[in-house]
Amino acid sequence: MKEKQGHEICKVAELPVGERVIVEINGRSIGVFNVEGEFYALRNLCPHEGAELCKGTVTGMNLPSEVGEYNWVREGEILRCPWHAWEFDIKTGKSIFNPHKVRVACYDVEVEGAEEKAVESFKVGVNDDEMVVVYV
Ligand code: FES
Repeated sequence: MKEKQGHEICKVAELPVGERVIVEINGRSIGVFNVEGEFYALRNLCPHEGAELCKGTVTGMNLPSEVGEYNWVREGEILRCPWHAWEFDIKTGKSIFNPHKVRVACYDVEVEGAEEKAVESFKVGVNDDEMVVVYV
């Protein structure tokens, strides 16, 4: 099996909470998302009919509830495909409607550069050099 390689995407500060960036790595379009300070990477290809999934709306979801009640949860964690509105969990790539069978590929993401800069960062109070790195 081929070993995964890290690809620097951007500085952490350039991808704020709730934002995404779409990049090309080894010919694959990949969306990188910041969900509440954690980073996730998904293939920008919907498993339904191939839309650019990562350009879809980032939203939340309703849990089952009584008539007239709304139980809105996970705001900012759900990605809705722009073509036919299939929804996916940004954290796992699994679909909401059939998580065991329908999913989009996802990739490991690391924040790198923090440990080496720990002493300096403490002094200045900002980790300007931390990079978001996707492993493909
Ligand atoms: S192409 Fe994404 S839901 Fe149809």
